[in-house]
Amino acid sequence: MQDLNPIAIELNERIRTSAPSVFTLLSELGKRIYLPKGILSQTAEANIKAHRFNATRAIASEDGDMMHLAVSRELVPELTLEGVYGYAPVLGQPELRETWKTHLLEENPSLAEATLSLPIVTSGMTHGFSLIAELFVDSGDTLVLPDMIWGNYRLIFQTKAEAAIQTYPFFNAANEFNTSGFRETLTNATDEKLLVLLNFPHNPTGYAINRTEAQQIVDAIVARADAGCHILVMIDDAYAGLWYDASVMHESLFGMLVGCHPNVVPVKIDGATKEEYAWGLRVAFMSFGIEEATMQPLEQKLSGLIRADTSGASQVSQTLILEAMKARGYAEQKQRNYEILKERALKAKKVASDSRYAKLWEVYPSHAGYFMCLNLKSASAELARQHLLDEHGLGTIALGETGLRVAYSCLEESDIEMVFAVIAQVIEMVNSS
Ligand SMILES: Cc1ncc(COP(=O)(O)O)c(C=O)c1O
Repeated sequence: MQDLNPIAIELNERIRTSAPSVFTLLSELGKRIYLPKGILSQTAEANIKAHRFNATRAIASEDGDMMHLAVSRELVPELTLEGVYGYAPVLGQPELRETWKTHLLEENPSLAEATLSLPIVTSGMTHGFSLIAELFVDSGDTLVLPDMIWGNYRLIFQTKAEAAIQTYPFFNAANEFNTSGFRETLTNATDEKLLVLLNFPHNPTGYAINRTEAQQIVDAIVARADAGCHILVMIDDAYAGLWYDASVMHESLFGMLVGCHPNVVPVKIDGATKEEYAWGLRVAFMSFGIEEATMQPLEQKLSGLIRADTSGASQVSQTLILEAMKARGYAEQKQRNYEILKERALKAKKVASDSRYAKLWEVYPSHAGYFMCLNLKSASAELARQHLLDEHGLGTIALGETGLRVAYSCLEESDIEMVFAVIAQVIEMVNSS
């Protein structure tokens, strides 16, 4: 076991004093990590004081600006050289962080009175989850997940971080979110430290919760916290904003979790990825529902972790997201995309739920996001997937024995009827062979 660096000891002490629960939740690496007072702090000091010559930055300059290649510069002529080629701050561009925070407050009325940290920029949401795993997960820690999930959670938390995953069925017998199964799993986990991950709108089904379900989830978490358990609750809001059904809650569960109990530490991971139609830009955000006195040392720890892996998210990607969010026409363009996705979602639901397909599959409830998921009644999902791909050039995702996920987000509305007709034809063929 390594000796802790004095800076790490100081950060730990500050966290322990201001929020004992956050300290209890830290992993061994989380306790060890810190941001050394090295090149970054010397550069920051020089940026303020070096008015004659600044020979600190590990970049090349020319005529007082950044040296660059015209061949790439020509592709983004309107952005500043710094905004394209400069290193972004480790935790992200300050203005982008502020802008995303404003966006979260606007979209989440429950956050109005709550404590919300300045979002930290990560290189996509996957990076955010990996950072959380490093900061909070030790081998053997329990992570509570439903049985239907975005598969990358397993790679990040189980394979990499060695968490022990405990699952509950996502749906109850009435095909609603299984709040009692969730509660039961929490109650049965006797650990003093628990990790919980919730994702609505949900991948793979597109399920979104209503207010009653949201309250039941919060109540279950608070009940476990009341019994002395420290709980990190991760909220995966990849598809936030893409709600198409008036019966579900049109804001994140995160808002209801912030401040719900001193033992509960909520963190919201969301992104430009899906919400801003910027998948490959790799810009996402991580926001905590904790006080500033705890956030400061925690940011230092996250700076250390980021410095040691990506060293920061892409500058040009952050600039593109920020400039887009400030641009005229931004809100209208987002609304336009939303309307298109909503039309596809409603069409896909209508077509897939048609009574002529009832003997072949059941459609899992879907209210939001990019996907819907069929529960095949007798065919193997993997077999159907292979036939669909090989014989009809139609790509779907097989999940478990009977789940077939269809991303209507990338189907034209006019093709949806045909897509489900082909799926039905293949399933009938698989069933009869
Ligand atoms: C539920 C969910 N969370 C997170 C992500 C990944 O986000 P990113 O591409 O920003 O890593 C996805 C992508 O498919 C997803 O479906």
